[in-house]
Amino acid sequence: MIRQGKLLEVQDLQKIYGKKNNITKALNGVSFDILPGEFLGIMGPSGSGKTTLLNCIATIIKPTSGRVLLNGKNISAFNSKDLAEYRGSRIGYLFQDFALLDNLTGQENILLPLSIYGVDFVKAKAKLDELAGFFEITDILHKFPSQMSGGQKQRVAAGRSLISDPDIVLADEPTGALDTRSARTLMNKLEGINRSSGRTILMVSHDPNAASFCSRILFIQDGVIFHELRRKHDESQETFYERILQLLAQLGGGSANVL
Ligand SMILES: Nc1ncnc2c1ncn2[C@@H]1O[C@H](COP(=O)(O)OP(=O)(O)OP(=O)(O)O)[C@@H](O)[C@H]1O
Ligand SMILES: [Mg+2]
Repeated sequence: MIRQGKLLEVQDLQKIYGKKNNITKALNGVSFDILPGEFLGIMGPSGSGKTTLLNCIATIIKPTSGRVLLNGKNISAFNSKDLAEYRGSRIGYLFQDFALLDNLTGQENILLPLSIYGVDFVKAKAKLDELAGFFEITDILHKFPSQMSGGQKQRVAAGRSLISDPDIVLADEPTGALDTRSARTLMNKLEGINRSSGRTILMVSHDPNAASFCSRILFIQDGVIFHELRRKHDESQETFYERILQLLAQLGGGSANVL
């Protein structure tokens, strides 16, 4: 029997920055689960705790309390070997500002996560070719980031986030620095990766357009999740987008006020 377990469990996560009379409660008891194959979005206004949440899951920062489990295993109990494996190959991270290394080519940037593992070159090259074809960056693999457009840089970064076959891709405002057309292209690609290979994605964004490509959206404000929207099985991205806008309007007189 195949067990349809939870891939990621976030349990009562709290994060307090600062000390004594200068504290910020960035996460105030966040709990949710992600099933394998989901494309989960988290929407919330600036300062609501989205990046803090992703960074806790990515072990970039330590939560003040609460737990994150991957495949039932508590990631804060990992020893240094498990942690290196988790960071290097169980999660892929896609940043708003691409975070490519300027002095490496597109190809070198994509292969970077594998370089510390001594992965078989033939296998790595096959995976690279597949991702480059999918993200339509084959022709620019030899270029340096300064020679690429914003959309191309982000598609290279997307390739890098997937090269190690992670269980989950964590994306922080991946379209934040892109124009509308490049944002749409990227979101179509991420949706494709999710649908065709069942890759699990967790994306935070305040952009309703980007979020409308997700299969489910959680809404966060002041470090608390307060609402959920699910995209119906056969609901188009355009219809889901309309529903997101309607919800935002109900919540606070238009998305400009809420997000
Ligand atoms: N290192 C830090 N030290 C102190 N406070 C911080 C730190 N990082 C974030 N904060 C605060 O925690 C809160 C949540 O920040 P976070 O970056 O998670 O928000 P966000 O939802 O990602 O916002 P944005 O949409 O602008 O990226 C904010 O009030 C922020 O000022
Ligand atoms: Mg952020």
